[in-house]
Amino acid sequence: MRILVFSDIHANIYALRALLERERFDEVVFLGDAVDYGTRPSETVDVLRSLKPRRVMGNHDHAASFGVDCYCAQENHELSVYTRQNITLKQLSKSDLAFLAQAPIEGHFEFDNLKIAAFHGSPSEPLYGYLYPWLISKSEVFTSTLGAPLEEQVVLVGHTHYSFTTSFAGYRVINPGSAGQPRDEDIRPSYAILNTDNTTIELHRFDYPRDLLKKEILTEVEQPEMRARLLKLFRVTP
Ligand SMILES: [Fe+2]
Repeated sequence: MRILVFSDIHANIYALRALLERERFDEVVFLGDAVDYGTRPSETVDVLRSLKPRRVMGNHDHAASFGVDCYCAQENHELSVYTRQNITLKQLSKSDLAFLAQAPIEGHFEFDNLKIAAFHGSPSEPLYGYLYPWLISKSEVFTSTLGAPLEEQVVLVGHTHYSFTTSFAGYRVINPGSAGQPRDEDIRPSYAILNTDNTTIELHRFDYPRDLLKKEILTEVEQPEMRARLLKLFRVTP
């Protein structure tokens, strides 16, 4: 069984469509942050809903659907508030927001007897934790919010927009990176395929029609400074 694992689409419908066109899979796990920053939150939620993914709550989906702060990194905070108010909340319907609000804070899934724990941030801080590979040096990282060690041996995380896979203290940790707004060394979006037949993990990068996203940001984002910052964040500048 091929499980598509992706995260942090951030309303980049062009990247999401390109990903779904190129990959074949049997099940889907989405690690949160469908909305904010990007220009097409409503269509993104529609496509996501149609996939019927196993999923967890992202801090931006949480902020949009519950009307609270996203507590994201300081350098992007103002931009995220601007896009939430001017794009996300203007486009999303009540049922879209209800769909986002229904995601659990943490996920415990099983496919073909493979047990998987899933978090947007980290096991101990599911909404807001940042689990970069260089921070995985203590097994305490893999305790739940209640303080107990995770039972699952496969741990999925997102939120950093940084793709990696590593093993530590008996856990296999996978971050598929961001399928809409990568922030690591490769400007292309990324995702992972977890194959339960032989327990292999593939990390993939892909390209998408970034000129369409660029054009949309240029025409639809009114505030010049926010427009420039969005182009940079989505890496669609020339
Ligand atoms: Fe996030």
